[in-house]
Amino acid sequence: MNGEQDVAYTLVSEEEIKSIVADVAARISKDYEGKNLFIIPVLKGSFVFAADLVRALSIPCSVDFLAVSSYGAGTKTSGNVRIMKDISCTLEDKDVLIVEDILDSGVTLSFLCEMFKTRKPKSLKVCTLFDKPERRRVDFTPDYVGCSVPDEFIVGYGLDYDEKYRNLPFVGVLKPEIYQ
Ligand code: PRP
Repeated sequence: MNGEQDVAYTLVSEEEIKSIVADVAARISKDYEGKNLFIIPVLKGSFVFAADLVRALSIPCSVDFLAVSSYGAGTKTSGNVRIMKDISCTLEDKDVLIVEDILDSGVTLSFLCEMFKTRKPKSLKVCTLFDKPERRRVDFTPDYVGCSVPDEFIVGYGLDYDEKYRNLPFVGVLKPEIYQ
C-alpha cells in the first residue's frame, strides 16, 4: 500500500495536475522565450512538480536544487527556515525561477527571495504549484500559481506528512486521525 488508505478524499486528481502543469509551463515558456531559464526547485516537496514542469517547458533551462526545512514532523511552520542544502553555482546574471510545491505562510519563499536577491540574478521569479492564501503570515505574491487550495492538510505529488505520501500521483486531504 502506498498510503492511499490514509487519504480522506482526492482534492486534485492526476489528470487535473497534468493540465495545471501544462498550463503553468506554457505561461513560463511564453514569458521566457529566447532566454535560458535557471530553475531552482525547493526540495524536498517540489521534486515531483519540478520534474514534470521542466519536461513541459518549450524553452531551454538549467536546474540546481536547494533543500530547506521549516515544518519538521508538525503541521505548522516553525517560522525558522533552515537551509539543508544550498545551490552549487552563482546566480549572477541568470534568469532565476524558484519552484515550490506549496506556498503556505509565505515564510519560506520570502526568506529565499531575500537570500537570492543578494546574489544578483538578472531576474528572480517564483512559481508554486499550490497556494493556500488563507494561511499567509507574511505578505507574499508568487509570479506563477498552479491553483489555490483550501486550508486542508494535503499530501501527495511531492507533498508529505512526516516524510510519507510524497509518491502519491494525486493530491488528497489527509485523514485527521493520521496527524492529530
Ligand atoms: C513545505 C513546502 C514549502 C514550505 C511552504 O516544505 O515545500 O517549502 O513548506 O510553507 P510556508 O509558506 O509556510 O513557508 P517543508 O518545510 O514541509 O519541507 P519539504 O519540502 O521537505 O516537505
